[in-house]
Amino acid sequence: MKRIAVLTSGGDAPGMNAAIRAVVRRGIDKGLEVYGVRHGYVGLMEGDFFKMELGSVGDIIHRGGTILRSARSEEFKTAEGQQKAIKKMNEAQIEGLVVIGGDGSFMGAGKLTAQGFPTIGVPGTIDNDIAGTEYSIGFDTAVNTVIEAIDKIRDTAYSHERICIVEVMGRNAGDIALWTGLTSGAESIIIPEATYDYNDVMNRIKNGQERGKMHHIIVVAEGVCSGEELKKEIKDKLNLDTNVIVLGYLQRGGSPTAYDRMMASRMGGKAVDLLLDGEEGVMVGWKKGQLVHATFEESAKEKHAIDLGDYNLARSLSI
Ligand code: F6P
Repeated sequence: MKRIAVLTSGGDAPGMNAAIRAVVRRGIDKGLEVYGVRHGYVGLMEGDFFKMELGSVGDIIHRGGTILRSARSEEFKTAEGQQKAIKKMNEAQIEGLVVIGGDGSFMGAGKLTAQGFPTIGVPGTIDNDIAGTEYSIGFDTAVNTVIEAIDKIRDTAYSHERICIVEVMGRNAGDIALWTGLTSGAESIIIPEATYDYNDVMNRIKNGQERGKMHHIIVVAEGVCSGEELKKEIKDKLNLDTNVIVLGYLQRGGSPTAYDRMMASRMGGKAVDLLLDGEEGVMVGWKKGQLVHATFEESAKEKHAIDLGDYNLARSLSI
């Protein structure tokens, strides 16, 4: 193998640039030529490639977002779209592809490998919801960004004795909500993986008020409902007024933490090593403190799960 390419796909996540840097520099160090693909699978179908040098990834390890840009593509989900991409890569004599993204992106990568083109996946999404890995690049930074925001929201909630609902991302997973709820001391955490009812929220608010604690922070995962929907329910069912804060894209940006830079460097480097070892159609993962890899199909079978022990702990600690 002489020439490989790298792309980022799906929602951007802090640490993606550090992963691109690792792929490019590990590849060059191992004697490969490395091409960048602009705009994810959209650029792959258009042949929007450019040769990357050591300096192309200088001064990006600390930057959020992705220098390659990202996109979501409907056309790439079709067999024609995938054939188009393979044709463009063959024309450019690219022999292997590293895809940095989430499970939707890996489904696309798996399709390329099924048609004979070697691909390796590197998990990158703030949601930390990818099956087959305990960690996805960007999660640690997003959690730290959210708790910084909640710490500030807490100052106002405390001063004005308000109930605040903080809506966080996560798609269908509650990882961001659970980690940020526990580590910011949120009084209620609502996640898709655990059932909750309004009486419970009411009891937690009332118990606090009886102890003279008049403020209350509820962290709700977007996979359960929006902050506005929750506000309406709480008004209808409990007749309480709340303030809603939707953190939105704030959670996806910013300089990656040391942990994300480390994981991105490890995973990006590993992806290149796997391609050179002749592996294809596999994703890099992190399990029990070790880098692992497994096929996209095997990985997809493992359901991503959060630790409900942490959820129960949060309920004991944040009252
Ligand atoms: O996958 C990351 C994520 O930020 C999810 O948490 C969220 O639901 C989704 O992307 C929103 O992405 P976009 O606005 O880019 O479609």
